[in-house]
Amino acid sequence: MDKISRRNALKVGGALGAIGALAVAAPGQARAAWTWSPRGSVAGTGAAVDPRYVWDPEADPMVASLIDRGDVPRVNELLRTWTKNAQPLPAGLPADLRDFMEQARKLPTWADQGKLATAVDFNEKRGLYLGVLYGLASGMMSTVIPKEALAVYYSQGGADMKDRISKTAKLGYDIGARNAYQPDGEMVVTCVKTRLVHAAVRHLLPQSPQWNQQAEEEIPISQRDIMVTWHSLPTTVMRKLTAWKVPIPAAESTAFLHSWQVAAHMLGVRDEYIPASWAEANSQAAQVLDPVLAPTPEGIKLADILLNLGSAIDAGILSKPILGSFTRFMLGDRIAEWLKIPREPIWDPLLRTAWGPFVAVREGLLPLPLAPEAYWTFDEFLRKAALLFLSEAKPISIEIPLTNRPS
Ligand code: HEM
Repeated sequence: MDKISRRNALKVGGALGAIGALAVAAPGQARAAWTWSPRGSVAGTGAAVDPRYVWDPEADPMVASLIDRGDVPRVNELLRTWTKNAQPLPAGLPADLRDFMEQARKLPTWADQGKLATAVDFNEKRGLYLGVLYGLASGMMSTVIPKEALAVYYSQGGADMKDRISKTAKLGYDIGARNAYQPDGEMVVTCVKTRLVHAAVRHLLPQSPQWNQQAEEEIPISQRDIMVTWHSLPTTVMRKLTAWKVPIPAAESTAFLHSWQVAAHMLGVRDEYIPASWAEANSQAAQVLDPVLAPTPEGIKLADILLNLGSAIDAGILSKPILGSFTRFMLGDRIAEWLKIPREPIWDPLLRTAWGPFVAVREGLLPLPLAPEAYWTFDEFLRKAALLFLSEAKPISIEIPLTNRPS
């Protein structure tokens, strides 16, 4: 089936899918029908419409209009000053944007401050693993999520991956910060700005000839896509921590999930698509994440750029093989082969044999009185250093794009 007719088939699928009827078979990609029940969601109920056909009706037309009426440069300049969760919005924003943001910045009614505080305990103790996992498991996995790889590659940020990664890493940093969702934290701001960026991408990417030739759907970043990427984050992290036998108290595991449930809501995902438990998250991931992983030329290029990020420091001599080896260790041989990551005769066996004992020693020391605080200080240093390197020591500002990748 050529691209055009596949797209048309998917359009028909879209119409039927919207009434919950059909799974469209497309070559090379599993396109399972959405059968995950809203009973397993934080809402506990819902219409069970396939989120492949749900985007962001509150943000999308408003941001498209901001772009079309030329307001974006002024808005970006004003929003650079808006950095803290409880900070009033800057004066001078267009009224439609201000109204949207005042709504979008509200935490969901089900946000549980107790759980969010427990999530801080979890992040303090497991910050090192989280940093490695977000960067190398989730980050590299995003390059084998075909729709995400295509969207990232052909959007503005695809042309400057270091800048783009620093902005995405900021979200990973903000959600793990001690004050993430507190008035002086930054996670709410980061989510609301990301929601605006995603809405802009939905308007801009369909105007990109290159993206248009490749993409299966006319509008990118559906709520289903967001949940796919979401599973590459907390669900994948929890799967790995479990595989590494990191002992996590049930309350902390639930709290970590909760901090990401709140993030999904703040990114504009409807509550009926947000899993209420790890069991539900795993069952949704098995349906929407695991079957879609596949290599694409764009994803392979993005992965190579990511693996070369350390080159500025050591010309890639050590950093590239180590990052490649970590990727193979985290995501397995199949994904490493897709991404054309070479085998590393020293690092691959070393990680296989040494990582388990490293985790065991670190976990074994955790009960010592000062260990959590010491780990936090060390991990916080590493996280800050990584962000500083990625941002080239400039303030990280998530901004609404005005163009796609220059061709
Ligand atoms: C932008 C996070 C899902 C594609 C961003 C940014 C963040 C972010 C923090 C701002 C960075 C920037 O401005 O460069 C997330 C999170 C997601 C998610 C946490 C899910 C939980 C997705 C999905 C896609 C996508 C599913 C595509 C299928 C993009 C693109 C940009 C972007 C194309 C803009 C890049 C640019 O032109 O600068 N995202 N995202 N995102 N995201 Fe997402």
